[in-house]
Amino acid sequence: MPADVILGAQWGDEGKGKIVDLFSEKYDVIVRYQGGANAGHTVIVGKEKYVMHLLPSGVLHKNKINIIGHGVVLDVESLVEEIISLQKRGISISPKNLLISENASIVLPYHKMIDKAKEARKKGGKKIGTTGRGIGPAYTDKYVRIGVRLRDLYNDAVLLAKVEENLEEKNFLLKNFYSEKELVAKTVAAEAKKHAKFIKPYMANTVSVLHDLLKKGKKVIFEGAQGALLDIDFGTYPYVTSSNPTIGGVMTGTGVSHRDIKKVWGITKAYQTRVGNGPLPTEMDEDLGNKVREAGGEYGATTGRPRRCGWLDLVALKYVCELNGLSDILLTKIDVLSIFSGINVCTHYIYKGKKTQNFVSDGEELYTVKPVYKKLKGWGTDLTKARKYQDLPKAAKNYIKFIEKYTGVKVSIVSVGPERDQILKA
Ligand code: GDP
Ligand code: IMO
Ligand code: MG
Repeated sequence: MPADVILGAQWGDEGKGKIVDLFSEKYDVIVRYQGGANAGHTVIVGKEKYVMHLLPSGVLHKNKINIIGHGVVLDVESLVEEIISLQKRGISISPKNLLISENASIVLPYHKMIDKAKEARKKGGKKIGTTGRGIGPAYTDKYVRIGVRLRDLYNDAVLLAKVEENLEEKNFLLKNFYSEKELVAKTVAAEAKKHAKFIKPYMANTVSVLHDLLKKGKKVIFEGAQGALLDIDFGTYPYVTSSNPTIGGVMTGTGVSHRDIKKVWGITKAYQTRVGNGPLPTEMDEDLGNKVREAGGEYGATTGRPRRCGWLDLVALKYVCELNGLSDILLTKIDVLSIFSGINVCTHYIYKGKKTQNFVSDGEELYTVKPVYKKLKGWGTDLTKARKYQDLPKAAKNYIKFIEKYTGVKVSIVSVGPERDQILKA
């Protein structure tokens, strides 16, 4: 049975949580493939609000299998907190419906310390504005082949040796470069094992599990964290995260074959947001930005930071469609644009004095581009009650058609509010 992918087509927070939760009804298996506890995926069910950081957004549904692939950097403490807090709210989570890759790299306290200390040293505009969850340093260790993996928690000698090797270098840095306190290997190893017993039943060879499930004809959906413009390779480097939210990350982060992947859904808001530093060419002025932030509740689900808001950037969206071979676009938060009588969409950049439709992925260069806008008619009426495409006013339909024409990708689903039923098929 083929597998489908849902990934963020902007700088994160596109509404992946809501959509994956909704789509989960039709799938048997939901898989997270990259990122870590930097993610915050919100699911609203009636009066209840859930924010997933590491758990796939399918966990609220009964009789589904949720998998955390090895491409994820696992903050075990945060994961256990997340599991227990959901269990307390009556959500059943057990090794029957959650499996975690034994090869996932784990985030240790020194990763978070270095993440924060590195940021604190950077001057003003050079700061990335990370979530402080240790993501960059944990991926660094993975790629320099000194990372501690989940499986290592069950071999005391290996765990201690790895932590000792890591701390030799990290303590030097912590003390002499960052003026932080040094850590003791035995204490770090003991702390890392604190939840080992709890997690053990969930641990699995998720690559073979996934292939078995696919062979059995189970329907699988992959849930991206962050967004394509935060991708370490394709995003606005260096103002990016340290993983691949784009399509390649699905394969490297889970072991699924490209032949099993059918649809790739890209989620985009009807406008642009960004949390943290880095270029946002279509950023609105303070007054307009505040209006959108309030109307859209644009505050970070993980850090609570206000999100910066801008007009929809079609140059960036087209780049993301091409990179990922998007089969469909899912458009969220179009209801928020009801506050405007006219809506800007960015169709070109002026870059180095020339008009272009090519995205500029270098983070510093992107600061230099000037957006060229087309002004589209607003609709000025509430969309949150719409349940069918036909319910949308003409101007909203034209907005959607404009996106389709520009990108060449169909907008198949439109979301008009945070609740499960606030959705319509285009
Ligand atoms: P994610 O990280 O991509 O899962 O997105 P977040 O959960 O960080 O942020 C999206 C926010 O928008 C959440 O508060 C959602 O409840 C909310 N949301 C999702 N879809 C819609 C929509 O269509 N309209 C409105 N108004 N809110 C939405
Ligand atoms: P979800 O999955 C929005 C941003 C941070 C920072 C940059 C690097 O909820 O869409 P990191 O801590 O990853 O090293 O920070 O990436 N960032 C996100 N922005 N949504 C996210 O996740 C994000 N995860 C990281 O703000 O700019
Ligand atoms: Mg989020």
